[in-house]
Order: sequence, then structure tokens, then C-alpha cells
Amino acid sequence: MSQQEPPLPAHIGIIMDGNGRWARARGRPRMAGHKAGVDNIRPILEACVEIGVPYLSLFAFSTENWSRPDNEVSGLLNLLGSAIRTQLDELNANGVQIRHSGNLDRVNPHLQAEMQRAVNETRSNNRITLNVAFNYGGRAEILAAVRRIIQAGVQPEDLDEERFQGFLDQPDLPDLDLIIRTGGEFRLSNFMLWQATYAEYYSTETFWPAFGPDQLKAALGEYARRERRFGGVCPT
Ligand code: IPE
Ligand code: IPE
Ligand code: MG
Repeated sequence: MSQQEPPLPAHIGIIMDGNGRWARARGRPRMAGHKAGVDNIRPILEACVEIGVPYLSLFAFSTENWSRPDNEVSGLLNLLGSAIRTQLDELNANGVQIRHSGNLDRVNPHLQAEMQRAVNETRSNNRITLNVAFNYGGRAEILAAVRRIIQAGVQPEDLDEERFQGFLDQPDLPDLDLIIRTGGEFRLSNFMLWQATYAEYYSTETFWPAFGPDQLKAALGEYARRERRFGGVCPT
């Protein structure tokens, strides 16, 4: 009898939390944690490609993160810009299709252009889709969708869940199957509320910069053991 492959999530979301505490535990400034956090994206992305996960969404900066001290906010914005500048060519060569969820209106035009360039240059890649949730909030995304729906003149009787989804920031991304949160908290913090409806949730104490491929595999093992019922009944 052939062995059945364990079920793999089609779409993983990661709430990359704990950069500040990772740095503090090492007596270093918070920005050192954010830098280490950016560096940690690559091995996790590569592991997802190797395992065969087609969609990865990363929570990089929330609509609530503007409330941090100015120097941390500008440090985080600069980090995103420099990550795109230094890594885009390699991501592109490796077949990564970059998407962005969130709103770039409040960020400087230079960073907007960098993000747009990353999306445009990788548009036809198909090894993995990396969706960067930056200046992103689940409520803001839903509200933006409602505005687009009103603007498009959609009649109430013509609106259903599928049509609604078509107005989200990345309408063709599948629902999240698995949400991983590093840093030990048990909350969504406004991450992909619509797409998280039936996601399996996995929280680990490990801070994001220390979360390696082995831990990703542990999360996938736990995911494979979960029984997803989607409101139905137990199969046995
Ligand atoms: C996550 O790490 C990164 C962002 C929210 C941008 P934190 O900066 O929240 O780290 P902690 O939670 O303070 O340790
Ligand atoms: C969630 O982390 C946002 C990101 C990882 C980008 P936070 O550190 O901002 O979340 P809270 O404040 O603990 O809920
Ligand atoms: Mg945090």
C-alpha cells in the first residue's frame, strides 16, 4: 500500500513577532532584532519552496505599528526598502512572485515605488507567492473592499462571499490554512481576518529571528495532525 502524504497547507500566514524581545535578551537594540528578523525570511521562504507550500503571507508591519516610537517606525520602513533593494534580484531569479497586502498611501513615494517594482518585476514567477502584509490591517482591508464595492455600484442582492473576496487586496490568494505566530502570544493582532476564518492556529514561544526551518516543519507536523471539519462532523 502506498503511503499517503501528510496534508500540506496551501497558504501559510506568519505573524513574525518577538524581534524586540529577541534583541533585548541579547542586550541589543530593538532594531538589531528587526534586522535579524528580515534575515530570517530567506531560510523560511526557501523551506516553504522545498516543502511545496505555494503561498506564504508574512505580517511585516501592522496598521497599529504606527504607534511605536518614530525612530522604530522609520527604521522598519527603511528596512523594508533596503530588503527589496538588496534581495529583489535573487528572489526574482528563484521564481518568487511578490505581492503586497495593505495600503502604501502613507509611506513615502520612494518606498511605494520599490514595492511596486518588486511586484511588477516578479509578476510572472510561479515557484511560490510571497505576500507581504505591510501597513496592513484586516479591518482596513475589509473596509477598503467595502469602499470598492460601493464605488463599483454592486447591488446588495448581487453580493455574496465570493464576489466580496474579489474586492480584497489580493483576491486570488486562497484562504489561510495555517497561521503561525512566533513570540508566544495567542492573538491575531488584526492579521488577515477574512482569510483566517478556518485557519489552523499555531503559536510558539520562539522569537521570530530564532524560528528556523525545523520549527516550521514542527508546525507543519502539528497541522497534519489537526482534524479540519469546517463545521461538519467527525469522519469517524
Ligand atoms: C515583530 O516584533 C515585528 C513587528 C511588529 C514589526 P516586535 O517588534 O513586535 O517584537 P516584540 O513583540 O516587541 O518582542
Ligand atoms: C503583530 O505584532 C504585527 C506584526 C508582526 C507585524 P505586534 O507586536 O504589533 O502585536 P501586538 O501589539 O503584540 O498585538
Ligand atoms: Mg510584538
